[in-house]
Amino acid sequence: MDINGTTRVCGLIGNPVAHSISPVIHNRLAGLRGDNLVYATFKVEAGNVAAAVKGAYALDILGLNVTVPHKQAVIDELVDIDELAAAIGAVNTLVRTEGGFKGYNTDILGLDRELSDVGISLEEKCVVIIGAGGAARAIAFLCAGKKASEIYIMNRTLEKAQNIADAVNEYAKKDIAKAAGISECGSFDKKDYIVIQTTSVGLHPHDDETAVTADEFYENAAAGVDIIYNPYETMFMKLMKKHGKPAYNGLKMLLYQGVAAYELWNDCKISSDMADIIYEDMKKELGISE
Ligand code: ATR
Repeated sequence: MDINGTTRVCGLIGNPVAHSISPVIHNRLAGLRGDNLVYATFKVEAGNVAAAVKGAYALDILGLNVTVPHKQAVIDELVDIDELAAAIGAVNTLVRTEGGFKGYNTDILGLDRELSDVGISLEEKCVVIIGAGGAARAIAFLCAGKKASEIYIMNRTLEKAQNIADAVNEYAKKDIAKAAGISECGSFDKKDYIVIQTTSVGLHPHDDETAVTADEFYENAAAGVDIIYNPYETMFMKLMKKHGKPAYNGLKMLLYQGVAAYELWNDCKISSDMADIIYEDMKKELGISE
């Protein structure tokens, strides 16, 4: 692609950013579609978020992704925010609008798209979220938005799970979310629940670990998604499969958060054929063969 006087710029702000896969996703999408757009990474220190966002707008940057540790801090610099992103309290995508950037949370749109891709609907389902960090919080709001019947947030530290449950119940205006201790998973008395694994347990190089070990918990589940994608098949997924349940990793979530951001920036729709090409590129880039 030629970079010329009309090339639009998008990018990623965060710290660190050097190993991000986002440039692969967006530059490849631009190439496939023939869009005159480049995507670069910008390392931004904690005290510089406001200056970075203002500067990006002044430089006519089309859109930004935001990663750790700025997903909350960036909210103060927006002129508008998507309703779900505001409820979650985290923004990973800034879209250029009149007078400033509007914030979205495409991490969550990414998971939503992965779930529909693999045929999992949350509507009227019991969902168990393992973990109570930032990812779990966002996913709990998605579950509420997708009309899950019950949401259990199961965490080692009960208080953190309770905080998320309280916030979700306030958002949903009914008591659908409950906190549970991870040590209780063996005696969890529900059936046919969807499990979403959001802890860092099992992340490479700790491939043989999982936050949930009780066989009964897997036996009673319907399907599982691990937001980890390295390893490609986590111990959580292996245990789900051992009990005959379908299990998926987080690589499609990562793909679709990028696709959703690209679509917002360029007001376009990425075809599933194109998304499949990017998915293969990501696997190549991450050294995944299977
Ligand atoms: P993120 O923002 O990416 O979701 P995070 O905020 O660091 O990540 O949260 C990590 C989650 O993994 C937390 O729920 C954490 O449990 P605690 O709240 O009890 O700390 C969970 N986690 C990390 N290591 C764990 C372990 N060894 N066993 C069980 N849960 C663990």
